[in-house]
Amino acid sequence: MKFYISTSGIKRVTISSSGAGKAAPPSTFTPTAAVAGTRRITIRTLLPVVLVLGLLLPFLFVRVTFLVLESATNCSSTLDCIGRGLFSGSDSSPKLRDELTRALVEAKEVELHNEDGLESFDELVKEMTSKRQDIKTFAFKTKAMLSRMERKVQSARQRESIYWHLASHGVPKSLHCLCLKLAEEYAVNALARIRLPPPEYVSRLSDPSFHHLVLLTDNILAASVVVSSTLENLANPEKLVIHIVTDKKTYTPMHAWFAMNPVKSAAVEVKGLHQYDWSQEVNVKVKEMLEINRLIWSRYYNNLKEEDLEHESQNKRYLEALSPGCLSLMNHLRIYIPELFPNLNKIVFLDDDVVVQHDISSLWEMDLNEKVVGAVVSSWCGDDCCPGKKIKDYLNFSHSVISSNFDSDRCAWLYGMNVFDLEAWRRSNITETYQEWLKLNLRNGFSLWYPGVTPPTLIAFEGHVHPIEPSFHLDGLGFRNPDVRDRQLLEAAAVIHFSGPAKPWLEIGNPEVRGLWNKHVNSSNKFMRKCRIMG
Ligand SMILES: *[C@@H]1O[C@H](CO)[C@@H](O)[C@H](O)[C@H]1NC(C)=O
Ligand SMILES: *[C@@H]1O[C@H](CO)[C@@H](O)[C@H](O)[C@H]1NC(C)=O
Ligand SMILES: *[C@@H]1O[C@H](CO)[C@@H](O)[C@H](O)[C@H]1NC(C)=O
Repeated sequence: MKFYISTSGIKRVTISSSGAGKAAPPSTFTPTAAVAGTRRITIRTLLPVVLVLGLLLPFLFVRVTFLVLESATNCSSTLDCIGRGLFSGSDSSPKLRDELTRALVEAKEVELHNEDGLESFDELVKEMTSKRQDIKTFAFKTKAMLSRMERKVQSARQRESIYWHLASHGVPKSLHCLCLKLAEEYAVNALARIRLPPPEYVSRLSDPSFHHLVLLTDNILAASVVVSSTLENLANPEKLVIHIVTDKKTYTPMHAWFAMNPVKSAAVEVKGLHQYDWSQEVNVKVKEMLEINRLIWSRYYNNLKEEDLEHESQNKRYLEALSPGCLSLMNHLRIYIPELFPNLNKIVFLDDDVVVQHDISSLWEMDLNEKVVGAVVSSWCGDDCCPGKKIKDYLNFSHSVISSNFDSDRCAWLYGMNVFDLEAWRRSNITETYQEWLKLNLRNGFSLWYPGVTPPTLIAFEGHVHPIEPSFHLDGLGFRNPDVRDRQLLEAAAVIHFSGPAKPWLEIGNPEVRGLWNKHVNSSNKFMRKCRIMG
């Protein structure tokens, strides 16, 4: 029997019988020699192989062991027995099996950890053949080896998961390049500095009869995809006014992009935060909010070093807290949207990691029933299943402040494609509540919720949410293995959202869903070509 694992690892595992001729059965029976003589593993890519070993070997090995032991009493040829037993599943010696099972169960976990023993099957085989040992020792050594392997597999898995998360933190060179080239263009080319929107469109900026779309982002590529995918699907693009707010450093390249790539018929406004003339009060509050987030960041950063990457769930939390989304000023400013747009009433807000797939103009016509935000809360999947996560996945229900105020099993509403009634928002005290909870969380050592913008938002908007049709928003496409088996669901969604670490402009996401985003990147554009951004 040969045991092959192909270089592509997970994709193909072949187990084949090569005939008894090659490996003659040992003349005197030793339990594991037969295994050694017939096993060959080709390892080229370490990680997938380790994973496959983790899944398969405990099963195969124990199984083979039983059969070899049994064969001593029943078979004329060991190989024959293995072959027959492995593939037919006939266990002819229950007594021996029971004995071995008991020995395996009795081998204590604690002792196993201290066992300085064996790294591989080869070593085990050597050990067992050099000193003939009883069934107990054999069971003990086997189990020690398996648990050692399992720990290795786990540690490899964990490391891989951490590296994957870290990969999501980088900003690709191509995005930096795009920013620099466009900033340069702004400096040298008058066309890149023309007024946005053109003078004849300016009156639309605060006209409530138009459809106002708000985008807060410092990512030009992402903004270009959101804008072009939105316009492509609108029946009446001339009704649309797009408001893009960005930070000071991205302002000139963002402006240059939309000046050089004017959109048909719709009005686009690009505004930098430095152009706002906020009241002292708002200034103080924004500073306070950013300071709290800086504290959270440094706390998680310090913890990450101390923890030495040991506990997986803990690590995910740290990595999430340190992720670009958690740090981004533009992300935190969402709670000040009413201040950013003092002249607007109803807006549709889109995250920069979305793609619009259908006409979304009905969102502006939607009646929010006096509520402040329209969001997808329930889903296609039925009454007791949520489209995203539950409240308890965001808030710490071990904390009494949280458990006494909220219902852990409710669905959290999806953030990233929302309709806001800014008038209703201004009448409410949502922004104050948000700010109060941030401070409360600070006083409680940041233990009230897991890091991110969403948890305090869920709290602040409690009771102000109007549920909208689930087909408007499909999120979670930026997670490790997004569930895209249901093509219909994916195609029916008006907005697909790459929430999660695998943003579509990074190279780490699922290629299939990335394609849905990539097709809106204009790769014939000269800036995209210069920076090698492929659509
Ligand atoms: C917000 O308003 C509600 C009732 O209108 C009140 O109970 C609550 O204390 C207020 N919260 C803050 C932070 O002002
Ligand atoms: C959740 O709250 C409990 C009780 O205050 C606290 O011990 C724990 O550390 C908190 N968990 C997180 C992740 O902050
Ligand atoms: C792509 O960019 C080119 C050059 O800038 C432009 O002519 C073309 O209209 C763009 N295509 C789309 C679909 O925006």
